[in-house]
Amino acid sequence: MTRAGQLELAIILPTLNERGNLAPLIERVAAALGDTGWEVLVVDDNSADGTADEARALARQDLRVRVIQRIGRKGLASAAIEGFCATAATYVAVMDADHQHDPALLPQMLASVRAGEADVAVASRFADGASTASWDNPERERLSQAANALARKLTGVELSDPMSGYFLLSSDLARALVPRLSGIGFKILLDLLASSDRPLQVREFPLYFAARREGESKLDRAIAFDFLAGMYDKVFGKVIPTRFALFGTVGALGVLVHMAVLSLLLFAFGKGFAVGQALAVLSAISFNFFLNNWLTYRDQRLKGGAALFKGWVGFCLTCAVGGFANVAVATLLQMQGLVWFLAALAGILVGSVWNYALSSRFVWGR
Ligand code: GDD
Ligand code: MN
Repeated sequence: MTRAGQLELAIILPTLNERGNLAPLIERVAAALGDTGWEVLVVDDNSADGTADEARALARQDLRVRVIQRIGRKGLASAAIEGFCATAATYVAVMDADHQHDPALLPQMLASVRAGEADVAVASRFADGASTASWDNPERERLSQAANALARKLTGVELSDPMSGYFLLSSDLARALVPRLSGIGFKILLDLLASSDRPLQVREFPLYFAARREGESKLDRAIAFDFLAGMYDKVFGKVIPTRFALFGTVGALGVLVHMAVLSLLLFAFGKGFAVGQALAVLSAISFNFFLNNWLTYRDQRLKGGAALFKGWVGFCLTCAVGGFANVAVATLLQMQGLVWFLAALAGILVGSVWNYALSSRFVWGR
């Protein structure tokens, strides 16, 4: 039995431009939970619409509302993780702030985990009895189902909706799993389930997936990419970290850019090899910088002219160090009698690792 005034459940609301949705949602949460001790943790990624200010205004009226405003960091999964670590409540729930997830399910979900029936209670859009108001577009339901199927295959998690953004579990369990979460994708639930050593008991609650109350979905554009990155991370992430894989892929594309620019300068513009090679190196490095900034480091992207210029200069310097390491290692190995292309490959590998290590620290690090 819990005493009145005891904090039992934290509801984490990751937000990105949900200003108008907050007040009515918190009212619905309060109505649903009655005298259960709860708090709402708004984890806002510095929304342009002033969601954090609105959350603070609500928090001044109600001590059960708290705000974490993050500046310079982004992402639904990492916002949820932030919430896990910032609450003293025994249980945590994550839900969308846009009213697509009905707070009326919270008491049942809480009761089931509290009673030990399940480690995780999941509100499912695809369980028997679930329904959906309207998918944003017809593609979305198919994509969602396909992603679910792939996720089930790769992680062995048998669930109708491993991508659900609405779930509840003990906060100790959530925190115990945090060190293993990639935090990259927004598939936080899937990550939690796939990261546990022992199979977690899940109970699903059919959800009526309502229409968003106001504003628009933020996940559509990044959805496929983040999801695939997340899947990659689970399967190969321990062998070759996702970021390094992306960095390497971008680097390989950079080689194509290099060759294209070089051949253009040599054959179309009749430049000499040294000039062509120099410009090709510069083009490839710049291409790599912008693509890495856009893709590999999309969660900590450098923005604005000055930051971009500084980053670009830093990346050029980084590549100079990597290039030096590359040549040194390759030459050494070749002198030891290693066949030239293996020596070159080893050089490229060492150079890339250097580039990666240095740029993640000095260009995109903080
Ligand atoms: N802090 C933070 N940072 N919050 C974010 C971010 C972010 O980068 N991106 C989205 N959110 C918040 C939104 O403001 C919203 O409260 C919630 O996370 C879900 O985002 P939506 O933009 O509403 O997602 P959706 O409705 O398209 O996607 C639904 O389906 C996904 C699975 O296909 C949601 O239910 C997701 O939770 C679910 O994973
Ligand atoms: Mn939504």
